[in-house]
Amino acid sequence: MSAARLDCDLLVHSAAQLLTLAGGPQRGARLGNLGLIEDGALAIAAGRIVAVGPTRAVRAQVRSRAELDARGQVALPGFVDPHTHVVWAGDRANEFEQRLAGRTYMEIMAAGGGIMSTVRQTRAASVAELAAATRPRLRQMLAHGTTTVEAKTGYGLETEAELRQLDAIELLAVEGPWTLVPTFIGAHAVPAEYAGRAEAYVDLVVDEMLPAAAGRLPRWAARNLPVFCDVFCEDGAFTVAQSRRILERARALGFSLKIHADEFVGLGGTALAVELGAASADHLVQTPAADIAALGRGETVAVGLPGTPFGLAQPDYTPALQILEAGGLLALASDLNPGTTWCESMQMVIALACRYMRLTPAQAIAAATINAARALRLDHAVGSLEVGKAADVLLLGVPDYRHLGYRYGTNLVQTVVKAGQVVTV
Ligand code: NIG
Ligand code: FE
Repeated sequence: MSAARLDCDLLVHSAAQLLTLAGGPQRGARLGNLGLIEDGALAIAAGRIVAVGPTRAVRAQVRSRAELDARGQVALPGFVDPHTHVVWAGDRANEFEQRLAGRTYMEIMAAGGGIMSTVRQTRAASVAELAAATRPRLRQMLAHGTTTVEAKTGYGLETEAELRQLDAIELLAVEGPWTLVPTFIGAHAVPAEYAGRAEAYVDLVVDEMLPAAAGRLPRWAARNLPVFCDVFCEDGAFTVAQSRRILERARALGFSLKIHADEFVGLGGTALAVELGAASADHLVQTPAADIAALGRGETVAVGLPGTPFGLAQPDYTPALQILEAGGLLALASDLNPGTTWCESMQMVIALACRYMRLTPAQAIAAATINAARALRLDHAVGSLEVGKAADVLLLGVPDYRHLGYRYGTNLVQTVVKAGQVVTV
């Protein structure tokens, strides 16, 4: 006698390779565990995964209203992009040309361009205009397989404009079908009006912006999503002491924490992040050895952003193998922004990580899914294909997962399933 079959909405079956990424975040030498099932299937009901396994076994368990034949394809979890500056107005094509002619990113920023240039354009935009500028980028991300996106503020740098960026993120989150996770980064640059008065700007962030942004926390909590606070800890931006002040205040107000650290100079921001229990420390190009060791002991995820040195045509990348050797948790993200790296594709990020961070395709895939989910503290909900998790599933038009990384510049994603729904992009 066979047990009653489970009714489900969609059965994805016969995948040449189904990558479950099961078993939680992957630390150090464990990175790269794909949980590969040949001739794999998964069943979905009410937007969640209800069964995963070999096609024959899953078929025996369920009765499905619809089916998706994944023959000759790779099925894997939707990518999680845990670091983006996706909400902005305008562009900085002129600065790209200046950098090609030899000016550095920080020189352009010190001269009032860079982040401030996007700030001027973003301050002039309404919430609806910001959403309209951002939506096509989110659609591109989804088309390239990113189903969960962290989105930062940081192009307002004054209270009302920062709140408008948060409002645009919320408007787009409600619209979906993507999952958006907001990050407040009022300390993204010292705005021109505060030039030479960084400490006074930090006062504004701590005393006015953070409490105002904290008013949004309950609405996100109701969606079971955290809200992060981030700081650009860098020479020419914010010191470690200023970063600590901001992050400690944010933590007290209920934000989860992130930091931009060691992009150009290793100041100690990564060790600070570990000490404060931040969810992630991001960039980590010039990270001191002591800070790498701290990552090995702590819970903070190191987020590599290889699109950024690539976008800036700089030679140094996140020392991924040293971080893994120290036992650290490594994730990947796009850093999508108009200044350093306008790239919506985590497939491209994986291709760069394989070449310049020396990851295997399997390691890069785990870093872009389950570990990226951990960098958002959402590893219980997304980032792997396991029973109970959101049915965010990609089908790639290739028979072997190693085509990810190997190939670049075209989109290998043929089908995106978000929360159980096949998305047309
Ligand atoms: O992560 N480094 C700071 N922030 C961004 C760049 C933002 C911009 O240039 O607009 C980054 O690379
Ligand atoms: Fe960034």
